[in-house]
Amino acid sequence: MKILRALNGHIEIQKPIWIMRQAGRYLPEYRALRKKSPNFMDFCLNPEMVVEATLQPIVQFDFDAAIIFSDILVIPHFLGQSVHFKEGVGPILERANWQELLQTPTQEDIHITYESIKNVRRELDSQKALIGFVGCPWTIASYMISEGKTNSFEGLVTHAKTWPLFNKLMDKLTTVISDHAVRQLKSGANVVQLFESWASAVPAELQQMWLFEPAEKIIRQIQKQVPGANVIYYGKGIAGQAIKNLQHLGVGFGVSQDTKLSSLKDTSVCLQGNLDPQKLLDGNFRGDVLNILEFSKDRPFIVNLGHGILPETPVSHVEEFIDLVRSRQ
Ligand code: CP3
Repeated sequence: MKILRALNGHIEIQKPIWIMRQAGRYLPEYRALRKKSPNFMDFCLNPEMVVEATLQPIVQFDFDAAIIFSDILVIPHFLGQSVHFKEGVGPILERANWQELLQTPTQEDIHITYESIKNVRRELDSQKALIGFVGCPWTIASYMISEGKTNSFEGLVTHAKTWPLFNKLMDKLTTVISDHAVRQLKSGANVVQLFESWASAVPAELQQMWLFEPAEKIIRQIQKQVPGANVIYYGKGIAGQAIKNLQHLGVGFGVSQDTKLSSLKDTSVCLQGNLDPQKLLDGNFRGDVLNILEFSKDRPFIVNLGHGILPETPVSHVEEFIDLVRSRQ
């Protein structure tokens, strides 16, 4: 599997490619499938639909990896906080009974994700990697305590600092997320990606405590339970600091479009990224893709976007992007 070779330090001329949120609304066949399940959480927990959604972008584009169709917010759902997705608004999380939530174990139907991973792995070409994923504690806690309604990074940090059970919540999430990652790998996922999408909200003096210590605990737990596990850490907007703090763990790093690849030229870790999703949507991405290919030519690298694909992106732009990457022989 090309992606595993890259994560293990191999340099290949033709770089592996997949894109974040590759199963999603920019695909007509996704929109058709999604209509059958108006409630997004039900969709994430419907084994047949999950397998179909996961495989749609592989059938359509022949990506080098599939990512299991789910969401980072299944974790609050399984902890007993109800999560709804409102069209045009995003996720809305209900206020929870926190004392109770912190004491109860996760609900059992989280199992559906593991069953779906087994089923996808059975159907997926053996040369293609299956990526499992989890949100990291800070990002998930942010959604949980703000109930989805966050208008500023500063407000969120103040809220977290003064939230009475915040440290307990972070510890609980660290344990539950580690377990979810391990179980995905044990069910047949070949890689697990850690999403810290809200990383750049955290001020420098809190990065250790809120980002890197929990990430290190999760990665060490994964490596203990699944020796040799392949892990990608995606911290949006903080790739440089993430590499500094976590590279000793031997993982790959996602790079968002707000970090210049040239600023990471001295690292030898496997990088993943970092085309701007807006440019893919607009169609003016050729130059940037050529720069990514030039930067990555003598290093282990996975081509991807810097963040999730935008729903309005034309399918033809995705095809062009892949063709450009694959034109390197
Ligand atoms: O194809 C894939 O990448 C796999 C599936 C996947 C989804 N969400 C499906 C989804 C993955 C890996 C995620 C991760 C995720 N979810 C993140 C981390 C990555 C990132 O973008 O920063 C975050 C922050 C979320 C939380 C989330 N889920 C939000 C904020 C939203 C609403 C905004 C939006 O994009 O609609 C979702 C919904 C969601 N998750 C959709 C999909 C395909 C769209 C829902 C729909 O079909 O209506």
